[in-house]
Amino acid sequence: MSGGSRNQIMARKVVLITGVTRGLGRAMVDEIARHGETVLGCGRSEKGIRQLRQQVGPPHDFTAVDVAADGEVKAWASRLLGIYGPPDIILNNAGVINRNARLWEISEQEFSQVIDVNLKGVANVIRHFVPAMVARRRGVIVNFSSGWGRSADAEVAPYCATKWAVEGLTLALAKELPSGMAAVALNPGVINTDMLRSCFGGSASGYLTPEEWAKSAVPFLLKLGVGDNGRQLTAPDGSD
Ligand SMILES: NC(=O)c1ccc[n+]([C@@H]2O[C@H](COP(=O)([O-])OP(=O)(O)OC[C@H]3O[C@@H](n4cnc5c(N)ncnc54)[C@H](OP(=O)(O)O)[C@@H]3O)[C@@H](O)[C@H]2O)c1
Repeated sequence: MSGGSRNQIMARKVVLITGVTRGLGRAMVDEIARHGETVLGCGRSEKGIRQLRQQVGPPHDFTAVDVAADGEVKAWASRLLGIYGPPDIILNNAGVINRNARLWEISEQEFSQVIDVNLKGVANVIRHFVPAMVARRRGVIVNFSSGWGRSADAEVAPYCATKWAVEGLTLALAKELPSGMAAVALNPGVINTDMLRSCFGGSASGYLTPEEWAKSAVPFLLKLGVGDNGRQLTAPDGSD
């Protein structure tokens, strides 16, 4: 290996992404890998993770993990930190939305599922990865929020509740981090994914594909730094 290529490998950023099997997470994997960074990703679907391993090989690393299960996140973090060290960037992207329904029509089970993934899942990832980043006093944490983390609509109350909570959790976290680190909340915009089709139906097809979105969102995410700590950001939509 030449000195140049060794330095390039050494300079790779390690980017941890949750929810890589579909949607924005899947598109970010390809775009971040194309930028020469190393992606460590998870999703619940074993099949999706197997496909990713075939499509995007080493040094990228994909594992079936449910972010709502604290023990699974703990084991995942322990393995990854041992191999790759602390991530440079965490993209807390994994999320679910309730089926369109008024709040009083939503079962306790479905309500809990949305809270467990969108809010407690973010906290689980922070609990197990961020101490190693704090010890090094370096790294950026991006918590995926939503337009519905800053406004609200009918029939998505559980989802809105979690995304407003993610905004608050992120602002508080930003005050706890040492200098050298940053935490931001990100509204990714409106993108045609399974999640958007669930809440928008057929009109979802009028929006950007995840691949189109990732082309402008990924360079924006990779440039985030200390000066962004505590910001409530919106991803560029390609026209910016
Ligand atoms: N699309 C939009 O317009 C839009 C707008 C605002 C905000 N967002 C936010 O952007 C993020 C990505 O959304 P998306 O549209 O890409 O959604 P999506 O197409 O439904 O994909 C969600 C991803 O999260 C994973 N996931 C769900 N629950 C998980 C869990 N418990 N553990 C690990 N992975 C899990 C899913 O994979 P598995 O099923 O394999 O677990 C999938 O890879 C979400 O946080 C969402 O709230 C999206």
